[in-house]
Amino acid sequence: MACRIAVFGTGYLGATHAACMAELGHEVLGVDIDQAKLDKLAAGEAPFYEPGLDDVLKANVDSGRLRFTSSYKEAADFADIHFIGVATPQKRGEFAADVTYVDSVVRTLAPLLTRPAVIFGKSTVPVGTAARLSALAHDIAPAGEAVEVAWNPEFLREGFAVKDTLHPDRIVLGVDTNRPGRAEEVAREVYGDIIAEGVPFVLTDRETAELVKSAANAFLATKISFINAMAEVCEAAGADVTQLADAIGYDNRIGRRFLNAGIGFGGGCLPKDIRAFMARAGELGANHALTFLREVDSINMRRRARMMEMTRDAVGGSLIGATVAILGAAFKPDSDDIRDSPALNIAGQIQLQGASVTVYDPKAIENSRRLFPTLDYASDMRGACKGADVTLVLTEWDEFRSLDPGYLDAVVRHRRIIDGRNCLDPAKWRGSGWSYRGMGRR
Ligand code: UGA
Repeated sequence: MACRIAVFGTGYLGATHAACMAELGHEVLGVDIDQAKLDKLAAGEAPFYEPGLDDVLKANVDSGRLRFTSSYKEAADFADIHFIGVATPQKRGEFAADVTYVDSVVRTLAPLLTRPAVIFGKSTVPVGTAARLSALAHDIAPAGEAVEVAWNPEFLREGFAVKDTLHPDRIVLGVDTNRPGRAEEVAREVYGDIIAEGVPFVLTDRETAELVKSAANAFLATKISFINAMAEVCEAAGADVTQLADAIGYDNRIGRRFLNAGIGFGGGCLPKDIRAFMARAGELGANHALTFLREVDSINMRRRARMMEMTRDAVGGSLIGATVAILGAAFKPDSDDIRDSPALNIAGQIQLQGASVTVYDPKAIENSRRLFPTLDYASDMRGACKGADVTLVLTEWDEFRSLDPGYLDAVVRHRRIIDGRNCLDPAKWRGSGWSYRGMGRR
């Protein structure tokens, strides 16, 4: 049955969730305070690059099932099912998550709720947030305790956001186990089509649901840092981390996914989520439990430093006056997101050490220019590689993976490539007369 739903926040999470809920047949109102974003969305256009999202947005805006507004009053009148999908960034100068935006949604929305309603939180929050917001909503909503707060974490990956939302690995719902209310029934209705496909539905308490999300991201970050630690050992021992990952990955208990060594993880989630998780565990008196995540973070940051060293070595020991081409700026392929992007961070550091740096990325140039206006940007690969003493591949876009070395031969000054994502075929590059170096590879 079609539900009426409001989704607060129209970033990567909220915009995708709103569009996909409309795709499931629901009537959806997306709410944000940023009018420019709303105007774009109302025209069926995502304010960021996400494969397939524009089509879903456009189809549902055209059908009238998906609308956008900046009015909380309109949302409260329209729907009794509310999803929170706003950001929870890292606090300035601290590890903890800044939950101001999540709080502000509840503070603004709850006083407008005169009928029973369910608020589902999707944002990644410190454990305990849902219970706190529930008490707040009960206090300030005219409908009082008839307003429920449940937690329904989101696990979508950028680049696969639509697929991950419509066909997730699992749905996790945390409800107030002392007073379960209607949240489960409502969630089963909203996600009816997805559940009917056999997707596991994990019903739990709110604290566990909040922790599931933190634990999942902590595990993924740990897996990446594990293989990057192996890369360090491989470098020291003259071994090859890619073959090592393939070999251990055949063991189903380990698995090959998320075992790609390189310049490490970035983005708007893993780095800040592991830090927020450590901070929260500390507040709860369980700080020893997560001290290993400090090491996960350090290993990850060392990869950026390692790439700097390799680049310096490649150009003869000093970056001063060197010309460096950088292919890739986004934190991962199929995204224009540059939040905490290892690629862009390395580009900036190399420039600070005296090199002239030109960056090319298929989608992320506009965002990069805003953050690092002093770097040079090119509109294609050849433009970036003109006169390069060394070329670095820092994001594994298909365009770079399938690149024929001969395409760059005529433009570079020296045929040297460093593969920061171990995504190129060393034999192909070396066979074409290039010096190839990967990370943790012979
Ligand atoms: C991550 C999680 O994968 C999602 O499940 C989660 O919902 C999301 O965070 C979130 O919390 O919202 P995402 O940030 O889109 O998703 O990106 P990932 O695919 O996890 O990649 C993160 C970083 O790890 C990228 O910089 C990527 O290049 C790097 N990575 C990934 C590696 O260095 N090696 C790998 O083997 C895999």
